[in-house]
Amino acid sequence: MLQTANSPLVSLRSGPLSGSVCVPGDKSISHRALMLGALASGRTLIRGLLEGEDVLNTGRVLAAMGCPVHRAGGAWEVLGRGVGGLAQPEAPLDFGNSGTGVRLMMGLLAGNDILARLIGDASLSRRPMGRVLDPLVRMGLEVVDGARTLPLSLRGTGDLLPLEYRLPVASAQIKSAILLAGLHASGATSVIEPETTRDHTERMVSYFGGEVTIGERDGKRLITVKGNAELEGRNVEVPGDPSSAAFLAAAALMVPRSEIRIQGVLANPTRTGFYTTVREMGADLVFHNERQQGGEPVADITVRHAKLKGVRVPPERAPSMIDEYPILACLAACAAGETHMAGLAELKVKESDRLAATVAGLQANGVRARSDGEALYVEGGRGVPGGGTVETHLDHRIAMAFLTLGLAADRPVTVDDASIIATSFPEFRGLMQGLGARFAAPEDVRR
Ligand code: S3P
Repeated sequence: MLQTANSPLVSLRSGPLSGSVCVPGDKSISHRALMLGALASGRTLIRGLLEGEDVLNTGRVLAAMGCPVHRAGGAWEVLGRGVGGLAQPEAPLDFGNSGTGVRLMMGLLAGNDILARLIGDASLSRRPMGRVLDPLVRMGLEVVDGARTLPLSLRGTGDLLPLEYRLPVASAQIKSAILLAGLHASGATSVIEPETTRDHTERMVSYFGGEVTIGERDGKRLITVKGNAELEGRNVEVPGDPSSAAFLAAAALMVPRSEIRIQGVLANPTRTGFYTTVREMGADLVFHNERQQGGEPVADITVRHAKLKGVRVPPERAPSMIDEYPILACLAACAAGETHMAGLAELKVKESDRLAATVAGLQANGVRARSDGEALYVEGGRGVPGGGTVETHLDHRIAMAFLTLGLAADRPVTVDDASIIATSFPEFRGLMQGLGARFAAPEDVRR
């Protein structure tokens, strides 16, 4: 388990940000590229893999089940074992902080005749796993020890049953776990989504040669994969992560006279809700040079500082920007009037209770914010006093959102632990500083 000492960090009011950067690879696609590489036969070569702790843990877990994963020059190589080819691990599988890693891997484990113990850090051990276990148990997975949170001991089977499942919540992780399990089952497995969620699993299964069909049931998206799949190793180029790019874009929008360009960002419409929203707020943000890369749309983004206004973000947009609410809420503090974000129940079960952590962080820095049931309200445009310390609760996005807010605050903003940022965006501090952002250790800041 990754144990790091708390390392507080302070962000300071900064001058205009400028420059052109590439953000590291998309986290969701990186996990899936490793896993589908493992399920394929032959070699998969992945360029631009996110080398954050979450993804590295997925690689280590696959290696512990007999699937070689290693860095080869500038790329990562996976030597696939074929569907159903994972080996019995000898030690517990540690997923660290990663909900995506553990939940998707449960889908793989379900279809292999092995017993595995799954563990994670304090944040991951609090997060709900029943939502993934319920459908997988119906397919044949056995929960040998534990209940609905980690640690869990699970036994998979070589005789997995196909399933048709209506998702109780809009979650790409549940959908993906079922579809990945479905590749091992003896027949077709289908998932019906209440709202469209990120579709990288569907795209990538078909890119690796699996059979995926997308249809409709009662006006909802119906995704079906064919079982006993035979996948073939592929070359994958991972686009830049739009969830990481959101912090840079928000920084440029907040800090007067900024203009930055972010290159090679994933522009899949199931992921771009944040960008739609900031445009509605009045942002000067343009996607250009749009192109296809390995079955996914990619674009460069140019963004300039602009005066923003508060908006209402509709609940149905939540799946396409689920990880961006903390940074959107910080941006809303700099926008005139109220921003109302609706339909955020899922935010309560992320790496932290992000609804509570976001409200607490804003209030600690003098911004009027409140939550009401599943909604979040931020009253912006009165300046950001800053001066507060934000509790990150082992949540990388809370840490990055408030470090970004500090760049536009009157007084420094402190986060109690910046080390957790390494789970998804190890280059965050360096890239931001390269654009002109100012960060410091607490002992170096004169208050
Ligand atoms: C992810 C799906 C989302 C998101 C997470 C990554 C994925 O979770 O919050 O960071 O890669 O499938 P849910 O699907 O549970 O909402």
